[in-house]
Amino acid sequence: MSYHNPPTPPRKSATFDDYTLAEIRRAAATGIYDIRGAGAKRKVPHFDDLLFLGASISRYPLEGYREKCDTSVVLGSRFAKKPIYLKTPITIAGMSFGALSGHAKEALGRGATIAGTSTTTGDGGMTDEERGHSQTLVYQYLPSRYGMNPKDLRRADAIEIVVGQGAKPGGGGMLLGQKISDRVAEMRTLPKGIDQRSACRHPDWTGPDDLEIKILELREITDWQKPIYIKIGGARPYYDTALAVKAGADVVVLDGMQGGTAATQDVFIENVGMPTLACIRPAVQALQDLGMHRKVQLIVSGGIRSGADVAKALALGADAVAIGTAALVAIGDNDPRWEAEYNELGTTAGAYDDWHEGKDPAGITTQDPELMKRLDPVAAGRRLANYLKVMTLEAQTIARACGKNHLHNLEPEDLVALTMEASAMAQVPLAGTSWIPGKGGF
Ligand SMILES: Cc1cc2nc3c(=O)[nH]c(=O)nc-3n(C[C@H](O)[C@H](O)[C@H](O)COP(=O)(O)O)c2cc1C
Repeated sequence: MSYHNPPTPPRKSATFDDYTLAEIRRAAATGIYDIRGAGAKRKVPHFDDLLFLGASISRYPLEGYREKCDTSVVLGSRFAKKPIYLKTPITIAGMSFGALSGHAKEALGRGATIAGTSTTTGDGGMTDEERGHSQTLVYQYLPSRYGMNPKDLRRADAIEIVVGQGAKPGGGGMLLGQKISDRVAEMRTLPKGIDQRSACRHPDWTGPDDLEIKILELREITDWQKPIYIKIGGARPYYDTALAVKAGADVVVLDGMQGGTAATQDVFIENVGMPTLACIRPAVQALQDLGMHRKVQLIVSGGIRSGADVAKALALGADAVAIGTAALVAIGDNDPRWEAEYNELGTTAGAYDDWHEGKDPAGITTQDPELMKRLDPVAAGRRLANYLKVMTLEAQTIARACGKNHLHNLEPEDLVALTMEASAMAQVPLAGTSWIPGKGGF
C-alpha cells in the first residue's frame, strides 16, 4: 500500500496576521499613522465574562410585575445645592458638536429627555438645539476650552471637568479640517478647515491642589448650584478617584479603554489604558477607603451595550453608567441600510470608523449639510429612548431575579466570573469556586 503524503498547507503567522501585514504595508506606503474613531477593537476581559447568580433558597427573588424595583439615581448630592435626579442610571456620554452633527446632538438630547436621563456636551461647546432639547444637560469643561464660556456654565445642569478619556488617557482630542465648518469654527474661535488638536492637559492646573481651586472657581460662577463631575480615563483608577474626591468632585466619571472616541491614533486606542472591567473595583475601593462610596457618585463608561452590562457595572459598585457608541448605534450609526455607501468608502456596516473624515453616510459623524439631513432628530431621538427603556428594563429584570428592590442593591456577591482574568479584575469568584485570584491590594 502506497503512503499518501499530502502537501503541507501554507502557514500564516499569528504574530504577523493579515491585518498586521496590511497595516505595515499601509504605513510603508503613506508614512502616516492611522487615525480613527470608536473604541478598542481588540478583545479584553469585559462584562461578558461575568454572570449573575440569581436567587435560590438563600436569596428570595422579587415578582416581576408586582414588586417594585427602583432604577432612579441622584447625582451630585455631596456639595451641589441642586443635585440631578434621573429616572434611569444610564446617561449619555459627552460627545462633541463638531465630531457629531447638530442633528445628532439634538437626537441625543431628545432621546435622553424622553427616557428621563441626562446628556452631555463635549469638546466644542454647547449648541442651542442641544440645550433646548435636553432636560438635563451636563456641560464639559475641557483642556481645549473650545466653546467654553461662563454663560453656558450657568445654562448647564451640571459641569464635567474632563481630565481624560478611556480611549486615550494622557492624549488630547482631534478634529480634522474636513469637519471644521463655519459653525464649528465659530464656536471654537479657530479658523475653518484647519486640523485641530486639543491639549492633552488642562492649562489651568498642574495637579490636584490647583484642581481644587478650579472647582471652587466653577462653584462660585454657578452659585454652588450645579454638581461638578470629574471625568478620568481608566489608567490609575484608585489614585485618580481618590484625588478627584480630594479636589472636591461631586461625581467621578470613569471611562475604560473600550470607550469610544471621535478621532485618535489607532495605536493609542489599542495600547493605552485599562479595560473598563479592571477599573471599577479600584475606584470603588478608593471611595470606600475615603468613606465616600454613594456620597460621591461613580459613573462608569466604556463598552456598555445592554441592561446586563449596566447591572454588572452597578453590582461592582458604580452608581450610574454612560454610553457613547451604543447611543450612536441606536440613532443610526453604522446602519446596514447604508451598506452600499460604506462599501464605496472601503468598509462595511459595523466596521465604519473613519469618523474624522466627515463622510458618514448615516449623517451622524459629519458636518456635511447634505449628509446631515439624512438623520431625522425626532425619529432618532425616539429610537434612543426605546433603547434606553429596554436597557433599563433588562437591568431591572436581573435585579429582581437577584432579590433587589433597587438597582443599587446589586452587589459583587451577586456575580461570578467565567475566566481567571475577569475574576481577578472584578474581584468576584471564579464560577463554581470561592477563589478570587490576586485578592489583596491594587
Ligand atoms: C463620537 C464621539 C465623540 C466623543 N467626544 C468626546 C468629547 O468631546 N469629550 C469627552 O470627554 N469624551 C468624548 N467621547 C468619549 C465619550 O464621552 C465616552 O467616554 C465613551 O464614548 C464611552 O464609551 P462607549 O463609547 O463605549 O460607550 C466621545 C466619544 C465618541 C464616540
